[in-house]
Amino acid sequence: MSTPSRTVPIMFTTSEPVPPISFDGPADYPTDVLASLTAESDDIVARYPESRSALLPLLHLVQSNDGYLTRAGVAFCADRLGLTTAQVASVATFYSMYRQQPTGEYLVGVCTNTLCAVMGGDAILADLTQRLGIAPGETTPDGSVTLEHVECNAACDHAPVVMVNWEFFDAQTPESAARLVADLQAGQPPAPSRGAPALCTFRQTARLLAGVPEQPGGAS
Ligand code: FES
Repeated sequence: MSTPSRTVPIMFTTSEPVPPISFDGPADYPTDVLASLTAESDDIVARYPESRSALLPLLHLVQSNDGYLTRAGVAFCADRLGLTTAQVASVATFYSMYRQQPTGEYLVGVCTNTLCAVMGGDAILADLTQRLGIAPGETTPDGSVTLEHVECNAACDHAPVVMVNWEFFDAQTPESAARLVADLQAGQPPAPSRGAPALCTFRQTARLLAGVPEQPGGAS
């Protein structure tokens, strides 16, 4: 007696292959910049028993120099830590704090995850998009503001939340967010709702996250 054939349902489908990860910008640093980055990276790497553990702060360090991750920055991290550029890219593209496009002085992220969205986050993003004349992911022509929509920042009890260079501005409305962005563009950044007493620029924030002095060379 033959065994009846079974139809096995297809549980998964394959998707189209995605393009390889690539970075833009210059491929090399000028000699003086390379010397400065090398000196500062020496201090960072020395804090870790395994040099590769320094990758996250080194990515912030090169981002503080360039405003985003350039080909030169990725290659610098790989060379400095004995990694391949593919290994660096796999980490750099996992965390949303590392950016692949040039970033304005202030990275304004509007949370549009579920709670913030229903509390007004969608309206805030739509209003800022119209006011600034840019789409999420783009930067104003004067280089002051990069707008993006962000996922939940674990601050749902303060919804809707706007983040500027990863500092919280709680319980926003379209009107208050418009004032916030106007102040940023006027060079008068307001204090965050909590946490840091004052806002830093995107590059200054990246230096803080890298754990190096605010100014290159050690001055703060
Ligand atoms: S949904 Fe916006 S912080 Fe959680």
